[in-house]
Amino acid sequence: MFSVPAPLNVPIRTERLVLRAARADDVDDLYRYMSDAEVCRYLRHEPFGLEECRRHVEHWTFDGIVSRRWLRLVIEINGHHVGFVSLDRGESDTAEAGWVLDPSVEGRGIAYEAATALLDLGFGELEMHRIEARPDPRNARSIRLCQRLGLIREGHLREVTPVGDERRDELVFAILLAEWRHG
Ligand SMILES: CC(C)(COP(=O)(O)OP(=O)(O)OC[C@H]1O[C@@H](n2cnc3c(N)ncnc32)[C@H](O)[C@@H]1OP(=O)(O)O)[C@@H](O)C(=O)NCCC(=O)NCCS
Repeated sequence: MFSVPAPLNVPIRTERLVLRAARADDVDDLYRYMSDAEVCRYLRHEPFGLEECRRHVEHWTFDGIVSRRWLRLVIEINGHHVGFVSLDRGESDTAEAGWVLDPSVEGRGIAYEAATALLDLGFGELEMHRIEARPDPRNARSIRLCQRLGLIREGHLREVTPVGDERRDELVFAILLAEWRHG
């Protein structure tokens, strides 16, 4: 008999942030930055339209419960939606992390604070063994974030991701449970 996993223990509060489940009223905030070509420049997809944002927000929760396999948490500062973090794990105990901020709050360590909480959740409650990030080699901010978090650069995948007419390279950065907060 299969058992339904318990809902994730969210919201998560950090020094400055709240990481919480998405709600229907997040659509306009998501659209504000995910429709921005600069923000999406190194993501695996083109900028989102409003309808896509609506569909995404609908899939980020089910009856208000955040998925443990395809996790998305909204980053909030002082009650304002300013970005999101993600963790995709499929069936295994390895996962891929992601982060997107509204550019108006970049450069303040907010992605670092949110990603630290995400990795704590991944290695803690979600019992991951390994967490990766796969920035485009041109994405200097995301690469710096990976390094600040202590992820190790393991490789460079060439022309691995089709986006529009391009095939993009990706770097593989990763950190293991034994290295997180111990290394
Ligand atoms: C990638 C992304 C999330 C990084 O955001 P960010 O704000 O640069 O990341 P951080 O939270 O680590 O902030 C780092 C900056 O804040 C500064 N900072 C200020 N206070 C800080 C603090 N308390 N702690 C850490 N850094 C702090 C750092 O010095 C650093 O400054 P720098 O930009 O001059 O190097 C953001 O650029 C983004 O959303 N990009 C578009 C989407 C994207 O490409 N996502 C990644 C896909 S792989």
